[in-house]
Amino acid sequence: MSALTRSSAWQALAAHQRRIAPSSLGALFAADPSRAAAFTLETGEILLDYSKHRIDAEAMRLLAALAAQARLQDWIAKMFSGDPINSTEERAALHVALRSRDAAFPQGRDVMAEVRTARERLRGFVGEAHGGTLKGANGRAITDVVNIGIGGSDLGPRMVTRALRAFRKPAPRLHFVSNIDPADLDATLADLAPETTFFIVASKTFTTAETLENARRARTWLAAALGGAADLSRHFAAVTANVAGAAALGVPQERVFPMWDWVGGRYSVWSAVGLAVALAVGVDAFEELLEGAHAMDTHFRTEPIERNIPAVLALLEIWYVNFFGAQTRAVIPYCEDLRDLPAYLQQLEMESNGKRVDRDGSEVDYDTAPIVWGATGTPSQHSFHQLLHQGTRLVPVDFIVTQASNPSGARTALAANALAQAAALAFGNPVPGAAHRTLPGNRPSSTIVLKRLAPRALGQLIAMYEHKVFVEGIIWNINSFDQWGVEHGKTLARTLTPLLLESGRPADLDSSTLTLLARLRKHD
Ligand code: F6P
Repeated sequence: MSALTRSSAWQALAAHQRRIAPSSLGALFAADPSRAAAFTLETGEILLDYSKHRIDAEAMRLLAALAAQARLQDWIAKMFSGDPINSTEERAALHVALRSRDAAFPQGRDVMAEVRTARERLRGFVGEAHGGTLKGANGRAITDVVNIGIGGSDLGPRMVTRALRAFRKPAPRLHFVSNIDPADLDATLADLAPETTFFIVASKTFTTAETLENARRARTWLAAALGGAADLSRHFAAVTANVAGAAALGVPQERVFPMWDWVGGRYSVWSAVGLAVALAVGVDAFEELLEGAHAMDTHFRTEPIERNIPAVLALLEIWYVNFFGAQTRAVIPYCEDLRDLPAYLQQLEMESNGKRVDRDGSEVDYDTAPIVWGATGTPSQHSFHQLLHQGTRLVPVDFIVTQASNPSGARTALAANALAQAAALAFGNPVPGAAHRTLPGNRPSSTIVLKRLAPRALGQLIAMYEHKVFVEGIIWNINSFDQWGVEHGKTLARTLTPLLLESGRPADLDSSTLTLLARLRKHD
């Protein structure tokens, strides 16, 4: 048994779960008319109603004790002071510095001067693009920008740009390409004119195969249209920690924006990886996004565990994963512009906490990150909600709802649907004599209300999830900031690529892979 599962805090939670499991959410609400108020927290533009969870005050007290046992407050202090908490890579995890105004980060070198310089350079570049002075090789103003990146160099800017559609500047138009499947880039380029198209190659390492291949193909596309003699470098910027890699692709030095080893890819939207966002909505809106995240950082740093929104969300996740056996959590934004949020959170949560050994390298004897999935409501109601209501699995849900600034019939219906789903999950619908029509209820959900879908609120929302992931990692005693699990697949793919082209010698491969390779080599 691990120290965690042996601990008195863990054992007390297991005992309490056995006490509370038979009670229904309906009964818990009936017993306490002020339950909603007791289990609602608010900060800035975010409200969290967690009353529809299978908890009582004692459960929350015991969960907070678990966090205290893990010395959560000390770890928060370590992260914010730049300690190398990413132990396997001996790096700090200082994404909070990217949205800080002037804080010093005493444990590492102070990064704020570099952060401020990068922000100023970003402002200058976006000014060029919006002022019409960003021009391609033949002197025409850029109208379209394609962000080429993958994982954290794609999902963040893509999700935020989509979420802030209402704030978009008229030009340039933004596009996102991540897949090494040529269909992705080809479909994007089909509608674009080479002379007015610009590419941001976003890659912290500048070694990621998908991104480098797409960047090379983009260059070939430009060269074919503009001629080999054209100055193609005028069509490229890069965001990377690998300056030499960007130079090798022909990106001019003044258009290489920095990334740092103390920022993880999935935490990088606040850096120049957010260049696409700033181009889409302007630097002022981008800075509001940072301020929103900074406000959540302050909340996270200063509020006690019981009133700390990211901590409470993390503790609820632990409650279901480790004490109720939940395997997944659904994220359902009732907001079309948050369509890409589930995919973003999949990387943030599963790449961070999809780990099976603890910080000392010992295999854990408890579950870590659940599978995160989801889609926007209301379309999701007509696909997978059936399972949520009547299936055999316990799936806690995050409902994300925005307050409408000018309510219309459709917007009101949208919010009504979100509330209806949360209530139906919690309280069910018994139909006597008709088991097939009965909704058992007692299915938990959080309702997260944003005052409006605007940069500041979005910044708070994203930072809230980042810190939730952090708290879980601390309690599960895992390193949330590495991702060694994805490396081996990359290496294998590099080995197999020449074999598919018939130019390599079969390595020591299993019969299944060899047979499939032979099949995929046949092109007729
Ligand atoms: O998928 C693994 C990963 O390393 C992610 O962590 C990262 O966000 C992504 O690849 C892209 O990496 P890079 O920005 O270095 O191209």
